[in-house]
Amino acid sequence: MRILSGIQPTNVVTLGNYLGAMKNFVKLQNEFEDADILVFVADLHSITIPKDRSELKKNIKTLAALYIAVGLDPKKVHLFIQSEVPPHAELSYIIECNSYIGEMERMIQFKEKSQKEGETVTTGLLTYPCLMAADILLYDTDLVPVGADQKQHLELTRNIAERFNNKYGDTFKVPEPYIVKKSARIMSLQDPDKKMSKSDPNPKGYITLLDNINEAKNKIRRAVTDSIGIIKYDEENQKGLANLINIYSLLTNLSIEEIEKKYIGLGYKEFKEDLAEIVGQELEKIQDNYSSILASNELDEILDEGREYALKLAERKLAKVHKKIGLGR
Ligand code: TYM
Repeated sequence: MRILSGIQPTNVVTLGNYLGAMKNFVKLQNEFEDADILVFVADLHSITIPKDRSELKKNIKTLAALYIAVGLDPKKVHLFIQSEVPPHAELSYIIECNSYIGEMERMIQFKEKSQKEGETVTTGLLTYPCLMAADILLYDTDLVPVGADQKQHLELTRNIAERFNNKYGDTFKVPEPYIVKKSARIMSLQDPDKKMSKSDPNPKGYITLLDNINEAKNKIRRAVTDSIGIIKYDEENQKGLANLINIYSLLTNLSIEEIEKKYIGLGYKEFKEDLAEIVGQELEKIQDNYSSILASNELDEILDEGREYALKLAERKLAKVHKKIGLGR
C-alpha cells in the first residue's frame, strides 16, 4: 500500500495543519508497518500565489524539518521537495490537457482564493488541482491523508484518473482520501465559523508549531467561547468550545466524553488553562526536535534520499503516460 501527502510551505505550519494532516501521517506510519509512505513539501503549489524568494526558501526548509520534528521517521518515510522531482510539473501539464476549465472554476478553494487575490489571479491558481492530481497519480497512491478542505480536490483527482484510464487504457490507480472526522477541520480560535488558516490576518486565530510557547498558551486562554459556561461538546451552540474540546481530545487521546466528565462542575477558565498547558507541552516537544534537526546535517541527506526514490517512481510513471498518449518518438 502506498500513502502520499503534501503541505504547502506557506508561512508557518498551523495547529490545524498539524492535527488535520501531519499527525495523521505519523499515525499511518505507525499503524501500517509495511506501507510505502511519500511525504513532500509542495513548493510548486505555494507559488500559485506569488511569494518572496527568501521567505519561500526559508519556509521550504522549515517545513521539511518540521515533518521530521513531529515524528515522521526518515527510515520509514521518503521525504522530498516537489520542485526537485520534475515529473510533477510535467504530468500536471498533461492532466491540464485532459481536464476542463469548468472543473477548475468549480473548485471552492479557487473561488475563495481568487476572490481574495482580485485582479492578479494567476493561471497556476486555476490549474492547481491538476498539479495536485499529478502529485498523487504519479505514484499509484492508495491513500491520501488530508483535511476536509482538500476533499473536493481529491474527488477531482479520482475523476481525472478514471477519465484518463477510460480514454487511454489502465494507467492510474484511483486514490482514496483519508480524512479523520474529528481533526478534519480545526477552526479559528477567534472565529469558530472559519477554519484555522495560516493566511488569517488575525494571528490570534491560529497557533503555529513554532509560536513562542507563552504566546501560544495565551491564544488558547483568549480563544472565543460563549456565555453558557458548561464544558459540553455542542457544535451548534458552543462552537468555539467544541473546537477546543476537539483539540484537547486530539492532543491527549482522551475521548470527548472523558473530557466532559473531567470538567463537570468546572468552568472555561480551568479547562482553557489545562489546554494551554497541553498545547504548550506539545509545541515544546516539537520545537526541541526541530532545533536538533536543523543543527544536524541530517535533513539534506533525508531529502536527497527522498528525491532519488520519488524520481525513480515518477519517471517510470511519466514514461508510461507518454507512451499511452503517443508522445515522443
Ligand atoms: P495546505 O498546505 O493548505 O494544508 C496542508 C494540510 O493541512 C490540512 N489543513 C487542515 N486540517 C484541519 N483543519 C484545518 N484548519 C486545516 N488547514 C489545513 C489540509 O487539508 C492539508 O491536508 N493542496 C494541498 C497540498 C497538496 C497535497 C498534494 C495534499 C499538494 N499536493 C497531494 C495531498 C496530496 C494544500 O494546499 O494543503
